[in-house]
Amino acid sequence: MSTEDRSPANGVGRAGREPAGRVLIFDTTLRDGEQSPGISLNKQEKLEIAHQLARLGVDVIEAGFPITSPGDFEAVQAIAREVEGPVICGLARTSKQDIDAAWNAVRDSPRPRIHTFIATSDIHIERKLQTTREDVKGQARAAVAHARQYTDDVEFSPEDGSRSDVPYMAEVIQIALEEGATTINVPDTVGYTMPREYAAMFEELYRLVPALGEVTVSVHCHDDLGLAVANSLAGVEAGCRQVECAINGIGERAGNASLEEVAMLLRTREPSLGLWTGIDTTEIARTSRLVSRLTGYQVQPNKAIVGRNAFAHEAGIHQDGVLKERRTYEIMDATTVGLRSNSIVLGKHSGRHALRKALEEMGFELDGQMLNTAFKRFKEIADRKKVITAMDLEALVTDELRSEDIGGFGLEWFEVEASSRRPPHARVSITLPDGGSAKGAFTGDGPIDAVFQAIDAATGVGAKLNDFAIGAVTEGQDALGEVSVVVEVDGCTGAGQGVSTDIIDAAARAYVRALSVAVARSEAGEQAGLPEAAAP
Ligand code: KIV
Ligand code: ZN
Repeated sequence: MSTEDRSPANGVGRAGREPAGRVLIFDTTLRDGEQSPGISLNKQEKLEIAHQLARLGVDVIEAGFPITSPGDFEAVQAIAREVEGPVICGLARTSKQDIDAAWNAVRDSPRPRIHTFIATSDIHIERKLQTTREDVKGQARAAVAHARQYTDDVEFSPEDGSRSDVPYMAEVIQIALEEGATTINVPDTVGYTMPREYAAMFEELYRLVPALGEVTVSVHCHDDLGLAVANSLAGVEAGCRQVECAINGIGERAGNASLEEVAMLLRTREPSLGLWTGIDTTEIARTSRLVSRLTGYQVQPNKAIVGRNAFAHEAGIHQDGVLKERRTYEIMDATTVGLRSNSIVLGKHSGRHALRKALEEMGFELDGQMLNTAFKRFKEIADRKKVITAMDLEALVTDELRSEDIGGFGLEWFEVEASSRRPPHARVSITLPDGGSAKGAFTGDGPIDAVFQAIDAATGVGAKLNDFAIGAVTEGQDALGEVSVVVEVDGCTGAGQGVSTDIIDAAARAYVRALSVAVARSEAGEQAGLPEAAAP
């Protein structure tokens, strides 16, 4: 067996591929992924991720759950209007209001989809929905029929499918198909199933509902027992041709199947599986970094495919082997997932034109004020750091450009006195949303704590710090530091990132952004979501 890398781009392995082996990638980073505790993306952030998902080549973007809040509705609508290529999908329970909201949010996409779901396991029917099997059948029928009035692309999911009585679930699926559902997704909602069992369930469903052979059948697996990717693979081996997954595996509780693992598994083992996706794998690393930055969820170092150590070799024997022949210890080439393409792009003498060109090559279109802001920050950093790499630029732009959209507070300056002999003291000056500025001071437990509390004093906002993470954008002593912060104001969370050669500066920038997002959300009354019993 060969572990040679085959690039879909160079056509190796494409000849003779059966269309039946093409697996659709349905990305739910912006819906199920966004349901991870502490994550709440605003419209601009969701749009940015959606554009990157389109670049990555996903087939379907589940952009959100439009009924849950006006903010989510607007984000899904903006994605439907702006993002070209993938199908844009909105989630809905079976009620007319849910389906109308989903349709109104996605209708402007050239390829809209409504995804409606209702639980079919007895525990969900009896305890959560407090209804009967017959009523669930009626709701499924009405929901799919209603959705089909709007679009001919309708997905139906029997929630908690893997714990449902299969003959009963088959009846519900049959009803959904009679009403015109074009994709049937059978989720392992609670991450309970095992590969053999999940595959057997699909085999039984195909037997009981022959019409399943004419539509797309889909898997949606949660990772509670660490089996999400293995179960997804079992599903596609049993005949399913859509995998629902999320970047970095984010999602409810332990998360969803990780998109990058599914895509690289199918690519690396294509000779045995005869299955492939349309993913441009060289965009994987960048998509992972973007999602990690915007959600504030860091990727564990040993995470498959996108972890910092996924392609690192520590043992001498391994290093020696890889130097002699990469495939001795590597089954994938790091460049195929977009790693190690960190070329030096710019230096301190580079001008505005060069910056704009480099950014364009990376897929960022900047003009006017946005370009000015990016250029100003680029110059500040280039003065302190000799070379600016593609990864530095990417971090800088993700960080700086978003502050334009966020509005709210801005960091003018800060100073901190830190010593091991007395508590650190910080002073800050903050620009306010009305254009004025305010100063604040605080003596804290550590220099970063002092700065954060001084910012609270200047803005007059009492925020709770929910999460704080520090990382380095690249390797090396002069690497840019990157800080992610999640704060909560009146029950509304906000995430912010900051990038700088000085870690306190990066932390202060991140905190001010997170605060601005949380305050904007709390003013817009955005903490409203689904009643707990109804959330999937
Ligand atoms: O996990 C689940 O069951 C879901 C459905 C809405 C598909 O997320
Ligand atoms: Zn789910």
